[in-house]
This record gives sequence, structure tokens and C-alpha cells, in this order.
Amino acid sequence: MTLVETYGDPATENMLIHGDNLPALQALGRDYAGNIKCIYIDPPYNTGSSFEHYEDDIEHNVWLDQMATRLPLLRGLLSPDGVIFVHIDDKEMAYLRVMMDGVFGRANFLNTIVVKTSDPSGHKVVNPSPYAQTEYILMYAKDRRSYAWFTQYVPTGNDIMYNKIVANIEEDYSNWRVESLAGHYARLLGYSDIRSAKAARGKLDFEADTWAFAVRNAHRVCQLTAISNLAGKAIVALREASKNAPGVLRLARPPLDDVYVLGGRQMYFLNAKIKTIDNAEVVARPLTNLWTDIPFNGISYEGDVIFKNGKKPEKLLRRCIEMSTAPGDRVLDCYLGSGTTAAVAHKLGRRWIGIESGEHLLTHCLPRLRRVVDGTDESGVTKVTAWRGGGGFRVYKTDGSPA
Ligand SMILES: C[S@@+](CC[C@H](N)C(=O)[O-])C[C@H]1O[C@@H](n2cnc3c(N)ncnc32)[C@H](O)[C@@H]1O
Repeated sequence: MTLVETYGDPATENMLIHGDNLPALQALGRDYAGNIKCIYIDPPYNTGSSFEHYEDDIEHNVWLDQMATRLPLLRGLLSPDGVIFVHIDDKEMAYLRVMMDGVFGRANFLNTIVVKTSDPSGHKVVNPSPYAQTEYILMYAKDRRSYAWFTQYVPTGNDIMYNKIVANIEEDYSNWRVESLAGHYARLLGYSDIRSAKAARGKLDFEADTWAFAVRNAHRVCQLTAISNLAGKAIVALREASKNAPGVLRLARPPLDDVYVLGGRQMYFLNAKIKTIDNAEVVARPLTNLWTDIPFNGISYEGDVIFKNGKKPEKLLRRCIEMSTAPGDRVLDCYLGSGTTAAVAHKLGRRWIGIESGEHLLTHCLPRLRRVVDGTDESGVTKVTAWRGGGGFRVYKTDGSPA
């Protein structure tokens, strides 16, 4: 590979490579084997279309051959605790899964993430079969035993199961008065009951305000949950004792949290679900493999580059990178498209390598990444990552490429 230019910090290790990813990956194998913590690729899906920036219509076997030559090289680049994400739609997903089982080993399969990418609208709904609104990310570890994931949380909306409040939490638990959350809040607002509060304020507004009140009072808002016989001897005994007790019973079990039981049911407090996400305290749940919360609409101006068909949201890349790497780790994308993976990795303080064969490396990736370094890209995850600019990258071309 030939160095074309260095942008920003001359000590940078970030690499933007123009050319076919096959020779590029072979060349990288000499210096970076076992050194990449996270690989995200979003290869052409082979949808049968010819897009403005790249071909997405090649013969099925040719497509499979391309994957078959690249995946083993990618595996060689992964660190022992590394992880690869491959983004794909339904057309080739099943074939890719079988191939990845072969290359990475079935035991190293971690997950199929289902990503909601669109909503049915207009003429799209007149399909001969259900409208397809999802894509997939196949996730494999280099070695499942060494891979550790950084647990992620996502904000949840109003959780109606949390419908109780301890009115006098400052008193000893034996005196606690456990009331209906909505009733308590209605009375606090000066209404005699929930019905009057809803009539005066509007049902939806009252419910939204009640939830906001619950979040502010999360240390005393709770749900009452059935206790199974598998919960452990002491808790089951407390459950039985509490069935005839007038108030709350407690089981202290240091260093674990105390268990509170009322009327045979366990009290789970809302504050256990409060997490800080993007600098805000919100009620959150652990991330699952169903991702419906990342908007694909409105990303066309991210990075200030228009790249129709295939551009991914910066928020999606942020999630993949944050769940699998720490600052300073190396991230690689050898189907870089408009440069999303590199831009997000840079803003998150990861080192990155991006490879793209199309001319849009020069027209899209390069200016986009220059703006990230300069701190003038205000789009995507810039605000939530508090990115202000800095760092740099080197541009290379593979032998024979037109850069
Ligand atoms: C679906 S797009 C990736 C979009 C990207 N994730 C983004 O957010 O902008 C796939 C990209 O792979 C590139 N590509 C296809 N074959 C390639 C190859 N052999 N080497 C390098 N890049 C390739 C295409 O030019 C296209 O830009």
C-alpha cells in the first residue's frame, strides 16, 4: 500500500485505505493479525439493484465467493477477544450464517441482531407478502470464551408494572404505607382521586406526568411481584409469613440488597432500573437483540454526505462499537461506504481502519473524516459523545487503485 496523505495528528494510527479490500486485508494481515478488537462490515446485500455509488447485483455464487475469500482474512485480523458484526438483509442472510459458522465456528456465534430499518408507508405496503422492515447483524466472537461484552442499556417508556409508592419511605419499613402510585400523585395535585385528575388534566397528560413523578421518586416507587418457590428458602419463608402480616417484612442479607415483601409479593424498587444514558438519568432495560430504537429516517445528512442506499446511522455504529470495545481499541470496516464506521470510531476515541474501493472514498469518506478531525461535523453522535475534534488519519491506496 502507498501512503497518499496524512491529515491532522502526524502520530495517528488511523488508516483510510482506497482500493479493493482483498489485497488491502492481505496487506494488513502482515502488521495487524490478531490486533483488531471489533470488525463491522456492511457489504453490498446483493439486492439486485444498481445503486448510484456501487453495484448491488452480482451473481449469487460470485457474492458468496467474495465473502468466502474475505471472512477468513477478517478472522485472522481479530484479536483473541475480538468480535465481528456483519450487517445484511434477508436475501443472503441464511447463506452468510452458514458460511460464518464454517469460518468462525458454530460455538463462536453470539447473536443475530434484528434491526428495524423502516415503517410501511405509501405504495410499499402493497406487497405480495408482509412488508420487510428489518435487517440483520450476525455477531461472532473470534473465541467466545475470551469475549466479554460491555453491557448496554436502552431507555424504556412508561412501565405500568411500577404502580405502587411508599408514601412514608423515611420511616422504619414496618410502618411503611404502600399506596397506588397514580392515586398518590392525584391527591398530591389536589384531586380527590385518579378519575378526577384524569378528567381535569387529560388522561394521557396525567399518565405522562405520573411517570415523570415516578422517575423523580424512583427510590420509593415499586412493583409487587410474585415470589416463586425457587427464590431461596429464606425468601419463600418470608413470603409465607407476610401473607398474614399487616405490613412490610424485610430480609437483610448483606452484602446483597435487603428484600422487602408485602402480602406475599416482593417489592422491586424503580431506582434499580435508573441508568445514566447520554448524560440523562432514565429508566432503562438491558439491550436485547431486537433493535427498534434507532431511526433510519433522517440520517441522510449525517456526516454531511449524501449516500443513498446503504448508509447506516451513526447511532447504530456507536452501539456496536461501545458494546465490544474500549477507548483505544482498533475497529475495522472494509466496506466503508460513506465512512460511518470510521467517523463514529473516531468520535468514540477508538483507533480505526476503513477500506473502500469506490470513488466515494475521495468524495465522501475523506471530507467527512476531515470534518470529524476538525471538529466541524456536528451531526450523528457528535453531541452525545461530546466530540470536539482532534486526532488524525493517514490515507493509503492499494497497489493499482486510482487514488
Ligand atoms: C452498503 S455500502 C456500506 C455503507 C456504509 N456502512 C455506510 O454507512 O455508509 C457497501 C460498500 O462496500 C463497497 N465495496 C463493495 N465491494 C468492495 C470491495 N471489494 N472492496 C472495498 N469496498 C467494497 C461499496 O463500494 C459500498 O460503498
